[in-house]
Amino acid sequence: MEADLVIRRARLLTLAPLKDEKPRVGAAAGDVGAIDGGWVASRDGVVVATGRGEGWQDLEFVPESLEVDAEGRVVMPGFVDAHTHLCYAGQRWDEFVTRRSGADYLAVLERGGGIHSTVRATRDTSDADLLALLQRRLARAIALGTTTIEVKSGYGLEPSEELRQLRVIAAAAKASRIDVAVTYLALHALPAARADDRRGFVRDAALAVRTVADEGLAEAVDAFVENGVFDIEEVRPLAKAARDAGLALTLHADQLNDVGATAYAARARARSADHVANASAEGLRALARAAIPAVLLPGSAFFVGYSPPDARRFLAADVPIAVATDHNPGTSPLEGMPTAIALGVVLCGLTPHEAIVAATINGAHALGRGGRTGALVKGRRADVVVLDTDDERELAYRLGAPIVREVYAAGRRVA
Ligand code: NIG
Ligand code: FE
Repeated sequence: MEADLVIRRARLLTLAPLKDEKPRVGAAAGDVGAIDGGWVASRDGVVVATGRGEGWQDLEFVPESLEVDAEGRVVMPGFVDAHTHLCYAGQRWDEFVTRRSGADYLAVLERGGGIHSTVRATRDTSDADLLALLQRRLARAIALGTTTIEVKSGYGLEPSEELRQLRVIAAAAKASRIDVAVTYLALHALPAARADDRRGFVRDAALAVRTVADEGLAEAVDAFVENGVFDIEEVRPLAKAARDAGLALTLHADQLNDVGATAYAARARARSADHVANASAEGLRALARAAIPAVLLPGSAFFVGYSPPDARRFLAADVPIAVATDHNPGTSPLEGMPTAIALGVVLCGLTPHEAIVAATINGAHALGRGGRTGALVKGRRADVVVLDTDDERELAYRLGAPIVREVYAAGRRVA
């Protein structure tokens, strides 16, 4: 068997798939498939074999192969960040400070700040500058171990401006060395100019889905379902447009209030239901029945100051859990998956191993990539990180430490 990369002498976390690969629940939700003294080999970006001990020496190495001695360090799948708003300009420091002194997130939005202030800053930024900002953020995510990332639009609001941002994201995705999953966040806030034309705006957003699909600009459609933002009735035509266009659906569901969006996401066969901090028991049961991952985003609970989603409730209900950064300038300015993992443990009550499952294979499932990445087994993309520790629990422990040492995407060193 030929190989062009081997990483050996590792504490290898395989996240090895179940017989029938599906989002991990039950015992599998905390099983990282560890092999001490393990190795992983790939060829042309795809894992060809894994094992324990010296078996890697039987591989046939092609010229210019890379052989890495991990010296006992943790080697694991690259992180999958299944929810980000990485394409934006401007900052929201003033709002952050105001909120820390008591201002309410939805009240700031209602007054034309919040998301609207990022919309203004983003609209006033050229394509080239927006692309440069996005690429810089992608590079930092990669350096922190992310090898698959979702990037949403959503700071354009009007479809024409959303399309511009999606084209910028598409350009970044094309040039990127990691896998970028693009989402059209069609209903994020009502533009001020449409205050008297809600129905028209919602209709235009649904109509734009066809263009997004025809131009191949996104693979999923998203909406912020929340009191005073958009309700389920307004999301229905959008969900139908997505279905008709062959795009997946994902939702910002029950982030600040229980509005029934989690159960709706399950009924609409969404790819994932995200935030879900205030999801009802009925919502959880519906997700579990449909095996739809809940993407927990503890960064926004941390920065906004609301009660984080309780992972134990989801695990007890057999809901698959993913964890992501939700990186955005408003609610979750944190960067990188190690921080999201630590917050998932400290705030949401995941064990370190559950958080690792949530940040890899279950994140992959949340992006419809559960068969392609998120585990180190034959046939998967060779997305690998080498940690600067021999104990993966340190990911959840050494908050803020530079714990990611090497990053490989499709078998190529990217950081
Ligand atoms: O995931 N809550 C809705 N959307 C983002 C925040 C957007 C913003 O405030 O800029 C979130 O929290
Ligand atoms: Fe978000």
